[in-house]
Amino acid sequence: MAPGQAGDAERERIAEALLTTAVGGPHGSRRRGRFHALRVAAVRPLTDDAIEVTFAVPEEVRDEFDYLAGQHVALRATLDGREVRRSYSLCRAVDAGGGGDGPRTISIAIKRDAGGRFSTWAQTGLKVGDELEVMNPQGSFTSTLADLDGAHVAGIAAGSGITPLMALAATVLDRSETSRFTLVYTNRSSLDVMFLDDLSDLKDRYPTRLALHHVLSREQRTAPLLSGRLDEPRLRRILDELVLPDTVDEWFLCGPFPLVQLCRDTLADLGVDAAHVRYELFTPADGPRDEPVGGPVTIAADEPVTRIEFTLDGQSQSVDSPVAAHESILTAALRVRPDVPFACAGGVCGTCRARLLQGSVTMTENYALEPDELERGYVLTCQSHPTTDAVVVDYDV
Ligand SMILES: Cc1cc2nc3c(=O)[nH]c(=O)nc-3n(C[C@H](O)[C@H](O)[C@H](O)COP(=O)(O)OP(=O)(O)OC[C@H]3O[C@@H](n4cnc5c(N)ncnc54)[C@H](O)[C@@H]3O)c2cc1C
Ligand code: FES
Repeated sequence: MAPGQAGDAERERIAEALLTTAVGGPHGSRRRGRFHALRVAAVRPLTDDAIEVTFAVPEEVRDEFDYLAGQHVALRATLDGREVRRSYSLCRAVDAGGGGDGPRTISIAIKRDAGGRFSTWAQTGLKVGDELEVMNPQGSFTSTLADLDGAHVAGIAAGSGITPLMALAATVLDRSETSRFTLVYTNRSSLDVMFLDDLSDLKDRYPTRLALHHVLSREQRTAPLLSGRLDEPRLRRILDELVLPDTVDEWFLCGPFPLVQLCRDTLADLGVDAAHVRYELFTPADGPRDEPVGGPVTIAADEPVTRIEFTLDGQSQSVDSPVAAHESILTAALRVRPDVPFACAGGVCGTCRARLLQGSVTMTENYALEPDELERGYVLTCQSHPTTDAVVVDYDV
């Protein structure tokens, strides 16, 4: 199936599941996003266009920065007078640098995106000692396996998509003496491979339990199977010869939309239950979004409006949104509460999640909420457009 067709089908499936959300069920496990000022403790080059950035976590906020392997943090900076928020996955094993009461340091990896505002600035502008606003860790790209003993976890990553998988692989291997991890990591050439040394160190540490396969699209490797683009025929051969789906308990996919979609479709075709396949996208399928500014709007006297009521930190507020403006709940809410949590504004990070208590919405995109969260009435407020005269959402539950 062509990536475009697959994307449309996926969007239809999501839209169907989300037309009207239900209320009920227990509280979700995600926490409310809050920014804290953290100081840069180290900047380490990973490749010519990627760096690892380590932040020191002060004792008083350490419990806020406890995280699960696979989670990410949002950074907030002002560049050329405009606020920019970008998410970056935590790349270290969960216990690294910790002392039992939360981590002393957290590390992320930033790859420069050609023409990208934040990542380009970070490569040259970010220095040891700088202070940056960092949100507490978010996200559900984490293992759901109750027991790692004997478990086989597999990851397929491309480019900077390796970052959460570094944390996942190291944590899975560290947590049990009988777990296994297979990683398929694709890049253009060996010069583009992020964490090259860290991956070989991990392989040295777990020679029999870590299987590491670098696929290079523009460089010849000894094994022809690992040389060339990771397209469907190559992926099928890899799944036939190197990572047998029948042996895998949980899959993690992270990379550009077309690759993630290809992997999901192929795994589904091979009979892998979608419940065992977790994926994360770094950008919405159709590219980055402009930040939701939540600026003032003028409402004419007889203009139809939607009343949006929301609760955040125990405080309830309401805001009117002109129906014709077709604003998201987030955009309208930011008008009266600038601290409403969000990061990507594109339906991929999950930071803006809230529970719909009254009314109904349609969501444009959802690449962040799990099916069980949808069933419990959670919505991504950056993607939710009210379809009733009034809606009530709660960011606290
Ligand atoms: C959950 C999550 C985790 C992530 N983890 C990581 C990570 O670990 N490491 C990592 O490197 N990145 C990660 N990302 C991606 C990261 O958040 C940024 O999106 C990335 O660094 C690019 O940001 P930027 O400001 O440099 O680029 P942007 O300015 O956002 O631009 C991105 C690209 O789009 C192009 N572009 C910009 N505006 C437009 C437009 N209007 N139309 C068309 N093209 C446009 C730019 O030229 C550039 O190529 C993650 C994202 C998410 C959501
Ligand atoms: S802000 Fe990222 S999903 Fe809404």
